[in-house]
Amino acid sequence: MAILEQKSTSQQVIELENKYGAHNYHPLPVVISRGKGVYVWDAEGKKYYDFLSAYSAVNQGHCHPKIVNAMVEQAKTLTLTSRAFYNDILGKYEKFACELFGFDKLLPMNTGAEAVETALKIARKWGYEVKGIAKNEAEIVVCENNFHGRTTTIISFSNDPVARENFGPYTKGFIKIAYDNLEVLENALKNNPNIAAFLVEPIQGEAGVYVPSEGYLHKAKALCEAYNVLFIADEVQTGIARTGKLLAVDHENVKPDVLILGKAISGGVYPVSAVLADDNVMNVIKPGNHGSTFGGNPVAAVVAIAALEVVQEEQLAKNSENLGQLFRSELNKYIETSTIVKLVRGKGLLNAIVINDDERSGTAWNICLALRDNGLLAKPTHGNIIRFAPPLVMTKEQLMDCISIITKTLKQFEI
Ligand SMILES: Cc1ncc(COP(=O)(O)O)c(C=O)c1O
Repeated sequence: MAILEQKSTSQQVIELENKYGAHNYHPLPVVISRGKGVYVWDAEGKKYYDFLSAYSAVNQGHCHPKIVNAMVEQAKTLTLTSRAFYNDILGKYEKFACELFGFDKLLPMNTGAEAVETALKIARKWGYEVKGIAKNEAEIVVCENNFHGRTTTIISFSNDPVARENFGPYTKGFIKIAYDNLEVLENALKNNPNIAAFLVEPIQGEAGVYVPSEGYLHKAKALCEAYNVLFIADEVQTGIARTGKLLAVDHENVKPDVLILGKAISGGVYPVSAVLADDNVMNVIKPGNHGSTFGGNPVAAVVAIAALEVVQEEQLAKNSENLGQLFRSELNKYIETSTIVKLVRGKGLLNAIVINDDERSGTAWNICLALRDNGLLAKPTHGNIIRFAPPLVMTKEQLMDCISIITKTLKQFEI
């Protein structure tokens, strides 16, 4: 029998992955075989609320019919030409996205990490050719506890030992400063003519959903302007309505010089990422400087248009904003009498709770196992933090149901 026709139990699937797959992840033991909207089903048919949304890639809900149909139709017509030739969809997508996000140009890539790499290359080249930094002297300011992906250069400026150890030698040219601290940012920018850019997550998602102080992004952008430094916003996780606005920087009316998007720009249907900038920055890129065989392929382009249209048509930013407020206010009520949960924080439907226990205690992991048993899937980040990021197509009734699952589960862990 062909391998895909063989029926497998969850346990068998886990064993296969353990035996034949590299152990670069530590998944929660649940095997998902189907998804629709806010729900997923395991191999045995048990239904769950998805409270991770593939790390905020599935904002539009699982298998959104409009996005899937766009992909299927395009896949039957033309899938890939590479950029050696034009395809008849890419330009339309670039126009659509540039107008939606308010930039002159878009550079298409596939994964978030590739888009971050792209932004770093653009920033360095801009630094030399426009700002006039001396050859090979450009530096980029980044934040402590950042997460921008997994390439050799990106992990070079991570401070997560697990992500870095034994992957050296590391790429030079990065200065790491505290997040959410304007004073250290200004100190890093002033008296250093070699800084090309400041790379920042508007909310640090992987670090545990750290929301910076109000005004931080706005003032950081102003400092970048004052010192002629590009402000690069990595909105791979926070973008596409996740935090209650189309972009998280919209909360502070900031227009980045370089915008990085990924994940939900495709609704989780296909790997699509993008870097957007105005001509004065993007025009440093010339033929041969950068590219990717799959970047900008017609399937990716139609998928991204459909995914972005869904965000607009279904007013997902507004829903995220409203449900996020409800979520935090209900969780805060619970926390008033809780000993196990310290706090809830977030924006829109990107939230996290902090468990009142040591990072290595395993309590957050055990809570996630119990949530799974009670029909809701979430995953700890950094030991004692649990991120809650459901698809943005959730209804108020569904959210209330989820809150009752979460609080019922947390009660099992109260001392
Ligand atoms: C802020 C941010 N940037 C970049 C990435 C990397 O994206 P990818 O996993 O698609 O390479 C992530 C992934 O979680 C992210 O959260």
